[in-house]
Amino acid sequence: PQKEEVQVTFVRANGERVQSKGKVGDSLLDVVVNNSLDFDGFGACEGTLTCSTCHLILSQADYDKLPDKPSDEELDMLDLAYDLADTSRLGCQICLEKSMNGLEVKVPATVNDARS
Ligand code: FES
Repeated sequence: PQKEEVQVTFVRANGERVQSKGKVGDSLLDVVVNNSLDFDGFGACEGTLTCSTCHLILSQADYDKLPDKPSDEELDMLDLAYDLADTSRLGCQICLEKSMNGLEVKVPATVNDARS
């Protein structure tokens, strides 16, 4: 049903805005995959928390609103991410809720695959 749909805008480092839609319960990695968004190297470990390539940067307000704080495992992986910010999260660890409709996240210019 329509109300389960959540709009997410990804903003590339060059400023290009990429609109997409996900469903409640999808991770932001799912949204990228399901919408076939072409972010180079994104989500390389397929959400198994071993690569840091799904790194996204949120606004402070959105970051504070997220229901779950990052786990220690996520924080360890974020330390290896390219262009880390105070409001960085891993896309595979954030699941959409209805309240996140209209969420905007920044996609860093490149990725650092922690496995290599
Ligand atoms: Fe690899 Fe999220 S997809 S850590």
